[in-house]
Amino acid sequence: MSHESDSFDGHYIGGEWVTGDGEAFISENPATGEPLGRFFRGTEAEVDTAVAAAEAAFDEWRELSHVDRAEYCWEIYHELHERTEELGEVVTKECGKEISEGRADVVEAAHMVEWAAGDARHPKGDVVPSEIAAKDAYMRRKPRGVVGCITPWNFPVAIPFWHMAVALVEGNTVVWKPAEQTPLCGRIVAELFDATGIPDGVFNMVQGFGDAGAAIVDHEAVDTVLFTGSAEVGHEIAREVADQSGTRAACEMGGKNNIVITANADMETAVRSAVLSSFKTTGQRCVSSERLIVHEDVYEEFKNRFVEMARSVSVGDPLEESTFMGPLIEAEHKEKVTKYNELAREEGVEVLVDRTDLESEEIPEGHEAGHWVGPFVYEADPDADLRCTSEEVFGPHVALLPYSGDIERALEIHNDTDYGLAGAIISEDYREINYYRDHAEVGLAYGNLPCIGAEVQLPFGGVKKSGNGYPSAREVIEAVTDRTAWTLNNAEEIELAQGLSAEIHTGED
Ligand code: UN1
Repeated sequence: MSHESDSFDGHYIGGEWVTGDGEAFISENPATGEPLGRFFRGTEAEVDTAVAAAEAAFDEWRELSHVDRAEYCWEIYHELHERTEELGEVVTKECGKEISEGRADVVEAAHMVEWAAGDARHPKGDVVPSEIAAKDAYMRRKPRGVVGCITPWNFPVAIPFWHMAVALVEGNTVVWKPAEQTPLCGRIVAELFDATGIPDGVFNMVQGFGDAGAAIVDHEAVDTVLFTGSAEVGHEIAREVADQSGTRAACEMGGKNNIVITANADMETAVRSAVLSSFKTTGQRCVSSERLIVHEDVYEEFKNRFVEMARSVSVGDPLEESTFMGPLIEAEHKEKVTKYNELAREEGVEVLVDRTDLESEEIPEGHEAGHWVGPFVYEADPDADLRCTSEEVFGPHVALLPYSGDIERALEIHNDTDYGLAGAIISEDYREINYYRDHAEVGLAYGNLPCIGAEVQLPFGGVKKSGNGYPSAREVIEAVTDRTAWTLNNAEEIELAQGLSAEIHTGED
């Protein structure tokens, strides 16, 4: 492995920039095809070196106080805060989200870092009463060790900090693999860490593809794997880790998210929430909605207004403030979304809007190589067993599912998917809203709002096929620490709970 301190294309391991041994790959702007940088695919050997560096750094790092560890995060917070414009533009160029979303990604990262660093001064654990007056009992947390982080391209700055900020403040060391589609954002985040002077080996970044991710997952010295991405990969990771005793995996995966619009909905709120949830980020959020369950009494009105918006939302240069939807991330993804749009037709749904291939005048000049797609909207029978209404597309592909009857019926349709990440209800009736709150099988539920836009101080995670029970953002602490129930006796005699005798009888009694 060659070391070049002035090369920023490689990996960041043990406090040094390292030129990779693996094949080179190029990051491309998905709106233009313009190359943004050259990087190296991380190899198993490089992951090994990074994990060894993280292991070696752990003993000293865990001995620092939470407050001292948080000092490094505060420096990053200030950088993210002061450089939001500049970094937001990089996010937009590399992952194609329109510019307000590019900035919001950096803002969300800053919020996560602020939350984790601020939490360093907050009370930890619980003081718990004991049956025995002389016993002090409380819950303490210990870091788990080396945390392996595998993150997606759609939030290339925020999600890495969901994983790493709390993990580091809690005393873990990390090995991170950014998504192969957004290595430039990965490099910039690593530069932020490098600039803080964080002890060598506490933070490590290896660029690369699925094989580098697999090397992290399979590594016996990695104690916790944090993964945000597709259900397919997440379930494979969870299975893999289940066979490694003592290793924990927290997997946040996709969704086939619903919005319920009842007969008592305010139509303006309904249409706006549905448009924002379905088309922002060009449908490429794991919380994006692809199923709109609409009561028959308001169906015609909702359909007309939603369809009109889907026909007119602007798709274009993501660096322009007036753009609503940027391109899809890459050519393979455009192919996948196109196939699902075709599949919907084959499955016999009624297509209402089809902007799969944009008109050439809609594509901005100089952006012909972008991966463009517009909304695809159709009406389907909620009881039909269709792939298009049950599989996650991760694009602007939206089914209108009309229903009649009460809120219980709407929830039957809502919960009839394998996934359970996010969802929303639009209604002015508090009974319907509360019914939804209590019965929707999701981790993130919203009333009279879009089902996107979660804040970091809430747990972020799903149920069913969407997650395995260790939410990210605030609640990632559960995945990166072990709890100790600590009990101390203040008396000179031993007294046991449950009325257990503390006498020891011998054969001489
Ligand atoms: C994702 O959907 O991939 O809740 C993450 C939101 C953002 C995070 C989304 N805060 O929309």
